[in-house]
Amino acid sequence: MRTFRVFVVSLIVLFAVSWITISGNNAIGEEKESEKITLKVEGMKVSCCAEKVQSALQKVPGVKTAEVSLERKEAVVEFEKGKVTLAQLIEAVKEAGYQASVALEKTVLKIEGMVTPCCVPRVQEALLKVNGVTKTSACIKRGIAEVEMEAGRVTIEQLIKAVEKAGFKAFVEEKKESKSVPQLESKFKELGMIYNIVEKELGEEWNSVKEAAKKIYGACCKWSLSRGMDIKDAEAYCKSAMFSGINEKFLAEKIFCPKVGISKLNEKYKIPEKDLSKHWDFVKKETKKSYEVCCKWAQSRNMKVEDVESYCKSAILSGMGETALAEKILKEEVRKFTDDEIKELTKNRYGRFADKYAEVGNPCPIRKKQVGSLYNQEEISLVSKTALNLALGCGNPVRFANLKPGEVVVDFGCGAGIDVILAAHKVGPSGKVIGVDIAPQMIEKAKQAVVETGLKDRRIEFYVGNIEKLQLTDSFADVVLSNCVIVLVPNKYSAYKEAFRILKTDGRIAISDIVFSEKICPKRKARFESVWSGVVGGAVNEKDYLEIVKRAGFEKIEIIKRHFLTPEELIAMSTCPGTELAPAPDEKDIEAVQGKVVSIKFTAIKP
Ligand SMILES: C[S@@+](CC[C@H](N)C(=O)[O-])C[C@H]1O[C@@H](n2cnc3c(N)ncnc32)[C@H](O)[C@@H]1O
Repeated sequence: MRTFRVFVVSLIVLFAVSWITISGNNAIGEEKESEKITLKVEGMKVSCCAEKVQSALQKVPGVKTAEVSLERKEAVVEFEKGKVTLAQLIEAVKEAGYQASVALEKTVLKIEGMVTPCCVPRVQEALLKVNGVTKTSACIKRGIAEVEMEAGRVTIEQLIKAVEKAGFKAFVEEKKESKSVPQLESKFKELGMIYNIVEKELGEEWNSVKEAAKKIYGACCKWSLSRGMDIKDAEAYCKSAMFSGINEKFLAEKIFCPKVGISKLNEKYKIPEKDLSKHWDFVKKETKKSYEVCCKWAQSRNMKVEDVESYCKSAILSGMGETALAEKILKEEVRKFTDDEIKELTKNRYGRFADKYAEVGNPCPIRKKQVGSLYNQEEISLVSKTALNLALGCGNPVRFANLKPGEVVVDFGCGAGIDVILAAHKVGPSGKVIGVDIAPQMIEKAKQAVVETGLKDRRIEFYVGNIEKLQLTDSFADVVLSNCVIVLVPNKYSAYKEAFRILKTDGRIAISDIVFSEKICPKRKARFESVWSGVVGGAVNEKDYLEIVKRAGFEKIEIIKRHFLTPEELIAMSTCPGTELAPAPDEKDIEAVQGKVVSIKFTAIKP
């Protein structure tokens, strides 16, 4: 019995000693129920790192919350008073693979009564006694004390109290208001004024959407990390689903293309593809839900479409840690792609189209019918099914190119090769046809189409390339064809200049393309450009277009035919084959350009 009592007493003593050790020197905070500390965290490069740090900190017993900011590279940790040591937090961060240290901040106090040099050490000592203060200095002349302290741990009230205890009066000098209003506030102010909405309400709604997005992102990251993904992959996987949920297809594709990416993740981490796809769809759906709730709210306040979009998208992006992008979207009325982005996007969209529809053909009946009607039965009998299935033209340039046996022809943006094959029939075995396309999958299908057609005796070559800058030599071609391509090219002048360069003197171009018959309102045009989809994305008006052709050096432009797209054709050509491959322009904008979109066919000569 005695032995048992001794054992129990020893246990109690041991527990008390350990407790004193923990809550003594090492413990953070002694005065409040819960404490906060800000840690500087180094090494976090992507948002999923923040998730990892957050989850590591939250696992430390006694930690209530941990908010980790990738942008500020810091973690604000709230924990139970006296229960957690700084070393524990630093260790937890270290185990997650990052470096943490206490973030320091500075403040300046105005001190009244500090009139002789003797006062200085008293003020300094008083301040240094406050837990978390690391350094102080004071200046009698200016009547101030500068305090360096652990960020988030020390309050100004604590400092003031400490100075008062030492017999002086302290206060914080009022900061002059900064002239630059933060981006968000100024945007909310602007929206508030336009739509007569209380600014605070705009801020609250925005923040609640941001928080919802943050939760979705956090949960997705957790899911991914728990399945062994590394942070970069987890980040790309989660972000692409969320970008997709807000119709930011381009951003989604850029970071992670689910079709290819999911099988790569499956190979790398042995996560079943089914699970990866299912979770990706789930994250996209959840994001979409939050986005739609926000859109409904904004629409109910009568916001214009573009403001609804930028307001809601920026909140979601911000929740995903894409702060810079969120600000950019909020600031710009419409997005402007760079030329490189457009090329990347075109390559991606047409590449995926080739992969998906080579066997089944265009899923849009109107588009299928339209393209079918461009070629007669005899022409159709000369091409293979793959070439026809993937045909996306708006004319039949071989018909008016007047090709002769023995000529060398280059098809700009040849797609799956329908016009290349028809041209090869015209120029015969002594001629040559070269097809160039930016999408490698299109070139693959074009090669396959030629094999299927059985044109063994013809000289046909295909290259993956950008028609704005070709690897082909000067002055070797007789004819350059192009069918519904240059409308998609950001720098149309470069494309025509390249055509001019590779053509022999007296060589010709035979082009079928899409233009606007008149000038389109700049805002609408900018909106079309912001999606760069279908025929309206990169279209310019006919006069400007032909001016570009002339400027590149061509002469004797002869318009063969103009066809104003019917409303049905216009809708099909701007939205097909659906938003899965490219976002559709705004319906109202498409409606507004009805009767102004022309399919034009022309020839011109290099003098
Ligand atoms: C509307 S499709 C037309 C394809 C083909 N001419 C036809 O009639 O079926 C446009 C094609 O142009 C290609 N393209 C777009 N921009 C290009 C560029 N800068 N350089 C080369 N090809 C490009 C696309 O990859 C796509 O295959």
